[in-house]
Amino acid sequence: MSDRRPSSVLIPEEQIRRRVAEMAVQIRADYPENVHIIAVLKGAFMFLSDLVRHMDGSVSLDFMAVSSYAKGTTTSGEVRLLKDLDTTLDGKDVLIVEDIVDTGLTLTYLQDILRARNPRVLRTACLLSKPSRRLVDVTVEYVGFTIEDRFVVGYGLDYAEQYRNLPYIGLMDVQPAGH
Ligand code: IMP
Ligand code: MG
Repeated sequence: MSDRRPSSVLIPEEQIRRRVAEMAVQIRADYPENVHIIAVLKGAFMFLSDLVRHMDGSVSLDFMAVSSYAKGTTTSGEVRLLKDLDTTLDGKDVLIVEDIVDTGLTLTYLQDILRARNPRVLRTACLLSKPSRRLVDVTVEYVGFTIEDRFVVGYGLDYAEQYRNLPYIGLMDVQPAGH
């Protein structure tokens, strides 16, 4: 268990709550029939659960797990699929729900493999975006908060598997290797 603590709060709980509720309304308006949500494990779990609680009407869920390979101190862009979907996407109105878009490599990989499965619609919602870190130009239709190039934890995001349980987004002092 790590003894490090986030040094400060970047986005407090109440601000996340309000923004996630707004995003849910916007997404519902864009997906009036059904939204088939694909959440990316593990980081998106808290964002997902708050998001869907604010949605009336038809929502279906599926989960994927991926892991990005690090190469030296940068992401290699190689992504390993750890858990695939339970159902097909053919003709469905799909929304990818992800915690954060950083270099964009993970999301590009996901969008490419999911688009190949012929959904009717494929869009992406990320709680956080760090545009200054982008290595590939990836489209994210719904962004909760745009942040600076700082390593953040909490609200699903981890540092060495810790801090996912924090109800706010906190800043870590030191950038871990691989980032
Ligand atoms: P990308 O492929 O570089 O866009 O990386 C995306 C993944 O890196 C995210 O899904 C996170 O799991 C992880 N990540 C990127 N930045 C952070 C951060 O600040 N805190 C925690 N995880 C992060
Ligand atoms: Mg992730």
